[in-house]
Amino acid sequence: MESALDYWSAKALLEWQVELGATEALCEAPVNRYELEAAAPKVKEAQKPGMPPPAPPKPKPVDPVAEARKVAKSAPALPSLRQALADFRHCDLKMGARNLVFSDGQPGARVMVIGEAPGRDEDQQGKPFVGRAGQMLDRMLAAIDLSREQNVYITNVLPWRPPQNRDPLAEEIAVMVPFLERHVELAQPDILVLMGNISCQAVLGKRGISRLRGQWDQAWGKPVIPMFHPAYLLRQPEQKRAAWADLLELKARLGAPN
Ligand code: URA
Repeated sequence: MESALDYWSAKALLEWQVELGATEALCEAPVNRYELEAAAPKVKEAQKPGMPPPAPPKPKPVDPVAEARKVAKSAPALPSLRQALADFRHCDLKMGARNLVFSDGQPGARVMVIGEAPGRDEDQQGKPFVGRAGQMLDRMLAAIDLSREQNVYITNVLPWRPPQNRDPLAEEIAVMVPFLERHVELAQPDILVLMGNISCQAVLGKRGISRLRGQWDQAWGKPVIPMFHPAYLLRQPEQKRAAWADLLELKARLGAPN
C-alpha cells in the first residue's frame, strides 16, 4: 500500500515525536502484556528472613547392578571397560584393594579363562593368576600347548581382592557379572573356561564344581567348560587326573571344526 505521507513530512513528524519524548517505535499490532507474564518462567520465591533454607532434594537410591549394567554396556572397547571398572563406586571391595586386577594374556584369543578373584600376589601386581595358583594354571595350559603369552586371555569374576581372601558375597558377584559379560563380549573368545565354583556361579548361575567339571555348557552364546580351580588342585593333587581329562576335552574342542 502506498503511504499518504511523503518522506519529508514523515521525517518531520518523527522528529516532532522524539522532541515530545518518544523513545521507542511500537509495533503495528498491540501486545497483551498480561499474556506475556503468564508465559514467562516463574522466578523462585525468595527465602523469607528467619525461615530455614529449603531441604536439598534427596539423592535417589542407586541400584548397583543396574548401574553396573549401564556403565559396562556403554564401554566400547576393553580399555574403556577397564576404566569403567576403575571409576565404579558401588563395590566396597575396591576400598580394601591395592590394585584393580583386570586381565592378562591375549585379548581376542580363542580361550578365555575366568577365575575367582585376586589373591595377595595378584592384588600387589595388578594381574590375575600370578601367585602359586597362577603358576599351576600356567602348567595346566602348557600341558595342552596353550599359554597366556600366546593364545589365552585371563580374567576373574572380581577385579578386587576380597579381605583376607574370603569368598565373594552373592551381592558382590551380582554387581560384577555385567562387567564380566561385557568383558567376554569385547574379548570375543570362542570358548570360556570357568575355574571353580565362583566363576560357575557368576557365569552359569550354578555351583557344584565336582558335578559340573568337564561338562560342556553354554553361556552368553559361547561354549563353556568348568574345571577344578588350580588352587584346589594344589590342595588336592589327587584331582589332577580329572583336571587332565578336562584339559584334553578342551584341546579336542579347539582342534574340532567350530
Ligand atoms: N585365584 C583366582 O581365582 N584368580 C587369581 O587371579 C588368583 C588366584
